[in-house]
Amino acid sequence: MNTTLSVIKADVGSIGGHVAPSRQLLDTVSRHVAHGLDGLLSDYFVGSTGDDIAILMVHDRGTGNAAVHELAWDAFRAGTEAARGQGLYGAGQDLLIDSLSGNVKGMGPAVAEFEIQERSNEPFLMFLADKTEPGAYNLPLYLAFADPMNTAGLLLTPEINKGFRFRVQDVNYTDGDRLIDLNAPEDLYDLAALLRDNGRFVVESIWSRHHGDQAAVVSTTRLQNIAGKYTGKDDPVMLVRVQKQFPATGEILAPFGIAHYVGGFMRGSHVGPLMPVPHGTTCSYFDGPPIVSCWGFCVHEGRLTEPMDLFQHPFWDLVRTRAADKAMEIRRQGFSGPAMLPYSELEYGGIVHILERLERRFSIRAARTVEPLRTAESVS
Ligand code: 13P
Ligand code: 13P
Ligand code: MG
Ligand code: MG
Repeated sequence: MNTTLSVIKADVGSIGGHVAPSRQLLDTVSRHVAHGLDGLLSDYFVGSTGDDIAILMVHDRGTGNAAVHELAWDAFRAGTEAARGQGLYGAGQDLLIDSLSGNVKGMGPAVAEFEIQERSNEPFLMFLADKTEPGAYNLPLYLAFADPMNTAGLLLTPEINKGFRFRVQDVNYTDGDRLIDLNAPEDLYDLAALLRDNGRFVVESIWSRHHGDQAAVVSTTRLQNIAGKYTGKDDPVMLVRVQKQFPATGEILAPFGIAHYVGGFMRGSHVGPLMPVPHGTTCSYFDGPPIVSCWGFCVHEGRLTEPMDLFQHPFWDLVRTRAADKAMEIRRQGFSGPAMLPYSELEYGGIVHILERLERRFSIRAARTVEPLRTAESVS
């Protein structure tokens, strides 16, 4: 049976700064999405991490479906009204246009969706990250789908041994989706050369080379490219199918144990470690640190099981402690060097005005010509 999983996320307001949505806001969004069960959706789930709300919708209408996108958009609009009513901070933050026609892609909300042929048992994971960018998933995906040091299945399972195809998007390009397909393992070095640059090259999807099925999809929206100025980070969502011809759940989760440094900490302008957290976790230290949560589900004939909170396990307490140490360590150097994102990532922020003002005050000092030293030999 063909099933479409669509996750659409937005930040439409939060309590106490960019911390977390209110109960009333979450309830309003959920109530609105529930209308979709009247013939459009077979199931849905609403969850939050930091100040972002993700709506997972299950249906049979394929990706980019106007009715499904409109349902999520209207739910976020209703949420925005609730947020305004409560005076929440940043009400409607990620809804960048007034009215929607068709597809929410490029309109502010982050979208990740795929149409799958349901396996007889179909386990999958939904990730939601806050205070970071879509490229935050680059390293975990590379390790999970291409590195046998992480994923034993690449050696042990014939269906996985053929490797995976990575579709990478250049998110700086705004006239369309600029994409390249690279195969693991043959193209590993080319893949690494792109994926090292989280701000520009982002894994958009991953495909099995054994049977061609899609394994993963990541939201690749860049809000600054849409709005022309900084309006909040592109807090990304991701769906990953697991087990059998795909990596095991634990192989997908393991790379998050690194708590690798990513962009998006404080005002979307700093670098911080990505801390794996239980869902519903708020943001705190320096508007962060960047956080990621993960729900595990099975979908069967269009119906979802209850969610499993995969970063709630006690194992992740140690990772969180290490991530907190890493966060404080990089914060010790404030604005200096790699603690802050490069100028290209800040170009829509206020720092541009400072640099423009200072431009006029720079002067060029003429290069001084240095007289050659006169030695005793040259004098005589
Ligand atoms: P089970 O034997 O518990 O199904 O686990 C299989 C597996 O490969 C887990 O990594
Ligand atoms: P969000 O993108 O999560 O709204 O955060 C914005 C910000 O600048 C926090 O410091
Ligand atoms: Mg916010
Ligand atoms: Mg956010």
